[in-house]
Amino acid sequence: MNNPSLSEILNIKHPIIMAPMFLVTNTKMVKEAMKAGIAGAIPAHNFRTIEGFELALQELEQAKTEGGAWGVNLIVNRSNPLLNEQLLACLRHQPDFVITSLGDPSGIVESCKPEGIKVFCDVIDSKHARKAEEALADALIAVNNQAGGHLGPYSPEELIPTLKSETNLPVISAGGVGDSEGVQRMLNLGACGVSIGSPFIACEESPVSAEYKKAVIDYGSGDIVTTKKLSGVSCTIIKTPYVEKIGTERNLLETLSHSLPFLKKTIKTLTFYRGMSALRKAAFSATYKTVWCAGPSIDYVKAIVPLRDIVVQLTKSAE
Ligand SMILES: Cc1cc2nc3c(=O)[nH]c(=O)nc-3n(C[C@H](O)[C@H](O)[C@H](O)COP(=O)(O)O)c2cc1C
Repeated sequence: MNNPSLSEILNIKHPIIMAPMFLVTNTKMVKEAMKAGIAGAIPAHNFRTIEGFELALQELEQAKTEGGAWGVNLIVNRSNPLLNEQLLACLRHQPDFVITSLGDPSGIVESCKPEGIKVFCDVIDSKHARKAEEALADALIAVNNQAGGHLGPYSPEELIPTLKSETNLPVISAGGVGDSEGVQRMLNLGACGVSIGSPFIACEESPVSAEYKKAVIDYGSGDIVTTKKLSGVSCTIIKTPYVEKIGTERNLLETLSHSLPFLKKTIKTLTFYRGMSALRKAAFSATYKTVWCAGPSIDYVKAIVPLRDIVVQLTKSAE
C-alpha cells in the first residue's frame, strides 16, 4: 500500500497544510506558512476577478520557499463560473497542489497531473473518496465532523481508517486539530498529514476584522452551530446574538423552494450568493450582522499571535 507522509508528497518540513478559508487565507498568510515549513492554500473564490487571482498566484510563485509549499482551492461544481479560467491561471503559475471541493475532480486531475501539480480532493465519505481515486487524484482530504466550514458526518476515528481501507490514496485529515497532540492523533489513525483552518483565523497576518478575531478568541466549541442558510450545505458558524436572532434553520419558504424541482437550481444559486455576501460583509466590517464562519477548534485560540507561533504550537512535541 502507498503510504508516503505529506512531508514527502509536498517536500515540506512538517506534514501540515494551512487550509484554504474563504475570505480569510490571503497571500501574506500562505507566504508565512511556507516560511514556517508547512504548506498553505488560498481559495480561488476569494478573488472576484481573474486578474486579481492571477496577481496572487504570481506573488506566491515568486515567494515559494524551501521547506514550504503553496496550493489553490478550486470549487469544481456549477456554482463556479470562473473555474476554467482559474484552472488555466493555475497551469500558468504552477502551484504545488490544487485542492478540489464540491464536485467531480476528474477534469482538474487530467489538466494538472501532466504539469506536475498534485491534486487533493475534499471528501466526506468513502463514496466521494472512491470517485477521487477513480479520477486518479494524488490524495484525499478527509473532512470530518469537527471541521470548520463545510463539515462531514463522520468522526476522524471513523473516517480515516475507512478511507484507508477502501482506497489506496494517502489521507490528509481535516477538522478539529489545534495542537501537536492533535496532529499526532491524526497521524496515529493513519493520516499522512493534517489540514488545519480555524486556529489560523485570528493570526496577526489574517485580513479579517478585529471583531471577527476577537470572537474566535472569546467564543468556544460550545458556541459553534451549523446552518444550511449560507450555502445550501451544512456550514459551521459562531452563534452570535445575531445568529440566535435569525436562527440556523431555513424558513418555510426556503425549505419549500428547495423541494420544488423547477425552483431548486435558481434558489440554490441565490442562497449561495446571498450567504457568501453575508459572510463577506461580516468578515471585514463592523456590522451587527455577525455571521462568522469558524469550527470548534477555535478552542485552541487564546490570542492574536503571528502565524509562525501557531505552527510552533502544532509541531513542538514532534521536534
Ligand atoms: C472560515 C473558514 C472558511 C473556509 N473556507 C473554505 C473554502 O473556501 N474552501 C474549502 O475547501 N474549505 C474551506 N474551509 C474548510 C477548511 O479548508 C478546512 O477543511 C477546515 O478548516 C478544517 O477544520 P478546522 O477548522 O477544524 O481546522 C473553511 C473553513 C473555515 C473555518
